[in-house]
Amino acid sequence: MAGKKTINNKSNEKSKLKKYYINNSKKYTADTYARFDLLLESGKGAKLKDIEGKEYIDLGSGIGVNSIGYGNKNYINAAANQLKTLQHTSNLYYTKPYIDLAKKLCTITKYDKVFFCNSGTEANEAAIKCARKYSFNKYADNNKDYKRYKIVTLKNSFHGRTLAALSATGQEIFHNFFFPFLEGFSFAEANNYNDTVEKLKDNACALMIEFIQGEGGVIPLDKEYVQKIKKYCEENDILFIADEVQTGAGRTGKFLCSEHFEIKADITTLAKGLGGGIPIGAMLMNKKCSCVFVNGDHGSTFGANPIAAAAALEVLNIINKDLLKEINKKSKYIKNKLIKLSNVESVDGIGLMLGIGLKEGLNAREIAEKCISKGVIPLTAKNKIRLLPPLTITDKELEKAVSILCECIG
Ligand SMILES: Cc1ncc(COP(=O)(O)O)c(C=O)c1O
Repeated sequence: MAGKKTINNKSNEKSKLKKYYINNSKKYTADTYARFDLLLESGKGAKLKDIEGKEYIDLGSGIGVNSIGYGNKNYINAAANQLKTLQHTSNLYYTKPYIDLAKKLCTITKYDKVFFCNSGTEANEAAIKCARKYSFNKYADNNKDYKRYKIVTLKNSFHGRTLAALSATGQEIFHNFFFPFLEGFSFAEANNYNDTVEKLKDNACALMIEFIQGEGGVIPLDKEYVQKIKKYCEENDILFIADEVQTGAGRTGKFLCSEHFEIKADITTLAKGLGGGIPIGAMLMNKKCSCVFVNGDHGSTFGANPIAAAAALEVLNIINKDLLKEINKKSKYIKNKLIKLSNVESVDGIGLMLGIGLKEGLNAREIAEKCISKGVIPLTAKNKIRLLPPLTITDKELEKAVSILCECIG
């Protein structure tokens, strides 16, 4: 009897503590997120634990960030050892971790150079600047009417939250309040070759695309369209920028999603899964673009930070060919199970970046909440259930999570 009372008291205390933190979050932080009612405290493998000790299988990995799950010893040691040794220097000096990381990234992806920053938005910002300067160097020629600075992106895209990245984002909903947005962006219809070419003909220096529109609802582009428009860009010296912030670093079962489309972009941006949970962004440049930025053109105080670089280097060691093969198997398993459900209209995406289209009348947020109450954390995108589990999720964890997901979707 006394034992039961102690347990009840502890659980009351935890629940009070949860309320205390959630109230303080609301009181002291900007009101920019519609958070779920969860206070998470720890993780192991693909599992998370909340303050009350309840376990969840994570199918969102912090929006595609925790690519190697939680508690990986090598990853922790890499970051912790670097923290103990030297946490930051700025880019006034050389440090080993970012140099090793740059070499490894270039070797894996066959790019020539990398610029490091701290997020996906920043990587895209760097790409926009790089493309504009590439064109200016080559075509401005003291021309006062020079206008070859336009960046064409796709309708329904998402490229980030700074003013340039918002200006590049092809969704009306993001073009409110913060006027004036940047000049020089236009939006083509995805998979519409003629419309894209028409927009590119109007003084474009670059086309920027996501191979799978993630925030837009997990919608992959057509391979034929991508290949055809890439060829047009090549023939007209228009740079092809691949925003692989969400699709990159193994998420789709290839290190870069561009491999599925059998093309190589002039510039590829990475972030999210690259650091496994420690903030890092990267802009990869091919030969054509590798010498555009010179001393003073761009920079970042935290970019190339030694802890982030050491952690990312370990992430790259873990995301090897064997792991990538497993991702494709796991993807098939999820798709096969979900597509059979009567409330599921479609399952789109590649690898472990999947979007589940629901029958009309169903609400993705409500289904996500139901899943959470049963111990599984999915994401949503538009009115789809979105899955971005850790790439290292085990078969057992996945089977359990998918069975709960199926039960909740119905
Ligand atoms: C394709 C894409 N680009 C850019 C971003 C912005 O990245 P970050 O939030 O790291 O700035 C995101 C984030 O969701 C994204 O999905």
